[in-house]
Amino acid sequence: MARLVVDRAFVVGALDRRLFGSFVEHMGRCVYTGIYEPGHATADPDGFRQDVLELVRELGVTAIRYPGGNFVSNYDWEDGVGPKDQRPRRLDLAWRAIEPNQFGTDEFVAWAGKADVEPVWAVNLGTRGIREAVELLEYCNLTAGTELPDRRVANGHEAPYGIKVWCLGNEMDGPWQIGHKTAEEYARLAEETANAMRRVEPGLELVACGSSNAGMPTFGEWERVVLERTYDLVDHVSLHAYYEPHDGDQGSFLAAAEEMDRMISAVVATADHVKALKRSDKEITLSFDEWNVWNQRHFPGELGLGIREVSPLIEDTYTVDDAVVVGSLLITLLRHADRVKIACLAQLVNVIAPIRTEPDGRAWRQTIFHPFALTARYAGPTVLQTAIGDGPDIDTAAFGRIPALWSTATYDENTGETAIFVVNRSETDKVDLEIPLGRGLRVLEHLALYDDDRAAANTADDPDRVVPRSVDGTEVVDGNCTATLPPASWHLIRLRTDEG
Ligand code: AHR
Repeated sequence: MARLVVDRAFVVGALDRRLFGSFVEHMGRCVYTGIYEPGHATADPDGFRQDVLELVRELGVTAIRYPGGNFVSNYDWEDGVGPKDQRPRRLDLAWRAIEPNQFGTDEFVAWAGKADVEPVWAVNLGTRGIREAVELLEYCNLTAGTELPDRRVANGHEAPYGIKVWCLGNEMDGPWQIGHKTAEEYARLAEETANAMRRVEPGLELVACGSSNAGMPTFGEWERVVLERTYDLVDHVSLHAYYEPHDGDQGSFLAAAEEMDRMISAVVATADHVKALKRSDKEITLSFDEWNVWNQRHFPGELGLGIREVSPLIEDTYTVDDAVVVGSLLITLLRHADRVKIACLAQLVNVIAPIRTEPDGRAWRQTIFHPFALTARYAGPTVLQTAIGDGPDIDTAAFGRIPALWSTATYDENTGETAIFVVNRSETDKVDLEIPLGRGLRVLEHLALYDDDRAAANTADDPDRVVPRSVDGTEVVDGNCTATLPPASWHLIRLRTDEG
């Protein structure tokens, strides 16, 4: 019997709820026919799909990064404001698509208000630079009286937007990025842009670009060079990572959380190395502002795409295994809640997304929607350490011998509720688990996601093929909660003290 030990006295850190962020990019059908579709049966007067807005609220996302992604690195934000009939159609070089510019800055802020999410804004440091970033900031955040905020007011938006978090470019280490830079080049530009933006508004939270993934040849060195230049000017460094099965090795894929865990630890170590070099008291935190499962082997690459009008792009259909992995990646983010302050599931709608839509039709929840929604809903304000004793190990090709169970827990002192999140990463064996409870905890609910058909997915015609199931038989006996975790499964066990 494996033992999961958790104690309210052993704290990882306070949960920043922006850990449950997501990402909207002008890519494929994320914006057009995703969140925005005038003429759709559920569209409101702004053209925002209400069916999608309802699912976004149910998903529980808290912060959304916008407008890209690779898209931002060749985007002129001015194209997307003002009267819609005067906005240009423009070739987007990132995805080789025609951008109609019917949705832009003002529309996203309005949509984010309706979705009740905090916007996280990325500026173009690919084809543009300091001036464009500052002007966009002025347009968004200043009160009327100078040219740029006056333009916002003239466009019908009197009140400043108060956008707090700004990303200094996107994946600038990637050769695919329009305006790709060396670490030194980017570090100088990020430093100067941060300097200028802080002259407009000193209290912004700024995110420096880290690596596009841990496999980049410059991983580690890039972060060191960038942070050495920008340490006193930025708050967070970004991480991006997408996970997929390699060569049919589903066992390693189920353990993808190992890879995320190692990447976070490496970036924390690099940031703290720079902290030591600078004899600084300041701690840089992490913005994991793109993460998800993405089957990139099905993607031809940007250069394999013909120039197109708005059309589907990387609309991955997610399986049960994908949902278990997404649940385990959320566990990893929570385990690092002391340093990860923002994280964005990429993306929100249609493009590698928890929500799918048909143009002019239905919207539904993909499998990965469920562990995200339940984690966002039930994770409490304090993340607790968990330890697994006497649990089985599994052998993986990618990570060697690792524990089958991967867990975290949170506590909410207002409700007295402890939430345990745990995955069984064994493909073959169930695990019997006991959780010693101590002070009179009882089981409120045990929800799990698994299926005999691990490739099962949700579709427009069968949108609830894969949903979380309530697990019977998880009970407290002699002060121990006992549960059985089937192979390849994700779990949420909610406990409460009687006095809580
Ligand atoms: O989310 C899809 C793309 O993945 C983003 O545009 C880019 O930042 C990343 O490479």
